Amino acid sequence: MEQYAIKGGNPLVGEVEIGGAKNASLPIIAASIMTDETVQVDNIPDVRDTNVLLDAMQGIGVLINRKDRHSVSINASQIHDFVVDGDNIRKIRASYYFIGALLAKYKSAVVALPGGCDIGCRAIDQHIKGFCALGADVKIEYGLIKAHAERLRGSHIYMDMVSVGATINIMMAAALAEGTTIIENAAKEPHVVDLANFLNSMGANIKGAGTDVIRIKGVHNLHGTEYAIIPDQIEAGTFMFAAAITKGDITVKNVIPKHLESITAKLLEIGCEIEESDDAVRVVAAKPLRHTQVKTLPYPGFPTDMQPQITVALALSTGTSIVTESIFENRFKYVDELIRMGASIKVEGNTAIVNGGAQYTGASINAPDLRAGAALVLAALAAEGYSIIEDIHYIQRGYEDFHLKLQMLGAQIEKVDSQRELQKFKLKIG
Ligand code: EPZ
Repeated sequence: MEQYAIKGGNPLVGEVEIGGAKNASLPIIAASIMTDETVQVDNIPDVRDTNVLLDAMQGIGVLINRKDRHSVSINASQIHDFVVDGDNIRKIRASYYFIGALLAKYKSAVVALPGGCDIGCRAIDQHIKGFCALGADVKIEYGLIKAHAERLRGSHIYMDMVSVGATINIMMAAALAEGTTIIENAAKEPHVVDLANFLNSMGANIKGAGTDVIRIKGVHNLHGTEYAIIPDQIEAGTFMFAAAITKGDITVKNVIPKHLESITAKLLEIGCEIEESDDAVRVVAAKPLRHTQVKTLPYPGFPTDMQPQITVALALSTGTSIVTESIFENRFKYVDELIRMGASIKVEGNTAIVNGGAQYTGASINAPDLRAGAALVLAALAAEGYSIIEDIHYIQRGYEDFHLKLQMLGAQIEKVDSQRELQKFKLKIG
């Protein structure tokens, strides 16, 4: 099994190029099947989740032509099946985007119930509510979601909670429905806006994405397009916190600073210096980190996908911090691992009380999910001595070349998959 071997203690310094957003790529790749014309998508990250989705599309007859590592052309004129199932697709969350996309185009979809990181119960009732409001029959049988409609008709849908996935799925289905759909209490995440822009570039009529009311006038059909995915807000934020955690100086390049505002604000609060330009942000951590309070919220609030990274930083700070997780109920699983590295944290319900002043020491730890896995790597990079991070397949779901990008910043990290390789790493590093 692949692991990361890490020797901590080096401040990370230098520049890192941020790739395309995973959570924008997934719905955009799925939505590419909503036309019979060819769609080219650029700036897709080469990560496990996007590759699983592309493979699943091939399985139902979609022609996928990989132009290079980050560009793919997609032609869905030969789809022969509306059933998307299989061992891999069941493991990813974004499988459910095929429901919105297939239902929009073919009025029929059968898709494996979504998996994804184990961070909470992750219901899909809001997706189903939206499809039903548009006129679909939806049932769950034998681990599959089955959706079918004679016709889809626009509707006024009030979301009971802000959901990224449900907003995206309803937007896709409504894009080809008859009449106008209004989604109230919609998610405002940058990837929701990116999908709306993508669909509009195919001829859809979607207004208001990025606010909490989205209006979608259904169109008869969509056409081909070429589209580049936005930069990954969470990959950028992870490297920004890498600077804070390792007392480093990192410039994240190819980003949209506006998308990073809540992350930047917290880094300033805890004592980092920030320099922003049009498409880059530099984070310098020259002073000891200070404590703070943070609560995860839908965009533009502080992202739940950055909660483990900020907690790793706060455990090193002076004073006591409170971290409240308000999106997913099971997102503190990594805390036990962090305690084994020297952190002093008490979790009570959805709140972590973080007593600062830790000095991490290396340990053998497991990545419990994608973002927590990345955060534990950052802790290991700040720790004295060696660490081994197991279950790095979680990290590979969402970070392209994570260890290589960290190496470029001076990190002593290697991907190993045997005792022999681990010994070699230790001999090399000394
Ligand atoms: C997306 O998940 C992202 N995944 C997650 O990123 C991210 O953490 C999350 O949005 C919040 O920003 C993808 O984009 C593939 P939600 P999603 O629907 O769509 C509840 C990562 O690390 N809810 O906004 O599943 C739900 O249980 C991942 O990249 C319902 O109750 O999130 C949660 O508490 C992890 N019913 C809250 O809403 C529903 O029908 C927000 O979930 C839908 C959601």
